[in-house]
Amino acid sequence: MKKLFIATTLASIAGIQIAHAADTAAVTERLNEYQTQGAADFSAERGDQMWHQNFPDPEGGPAQNCTTCHGTDLNLQGKHARTGKIIEPMARSVNPERLTDGKKIEKWFLRNCKSVLNRECTPQEKGDFLRYLSSK
Ligand code: HEC
Repeated sequence: MKKLFIATTLASIAGIQIAHAADTAAVTERLNEYQTQGAADFSAERGDQMWHQNFPDPEGGPAQNCTTCHGTDLNLQGKHARTGKIIEPMARSVNPERLTDGKKIEKWFLRNCKSVLNRECTPQEKGDFLRYLSSK
């Protein structure tokens, strides 16, 4: 316990992201990159909150959040709000292909943040989302 605490403290002083057991190599690599871009520690709780937070549509359409397409249960398939296309579950426990490719992660953060938040997500927000998603 004490050793873990010391290791965690040293790592956070050094700005190194502690790898969580459930993280893929791609997630660990992304989190380290976000910290070099200025993000602090990541929080699954903040990611969870933001995943469910509604953002108004500037063009007057319905408010959106991440569940609009991914669904309210990460273990189940989602459905694209506009095209109706099935989206495979986000939880790695049922879909191990999730979060295994850093390029794919960034591509979809870019698109989906712009679509839901109407702006790009910050490195902090992306890390919180990844912390949340990879805990599932
Ligand atoms: C308009 C529909 C839509 C919304 C809203 C949406 N997504 Fe997605 N998302 C997709 C689609 C489509 C994919 C790519 C298909 C796939 O991976 O199954 C995807 C993929 C992803 C991926 C890549 C997962 C991986 O395995 O690498 C991440 C991360 C992601 N979305 C995060 C978010 C976040 C965070 C939000 C809320 C800010 C969000 N999405 C909202 C449609 C959406």
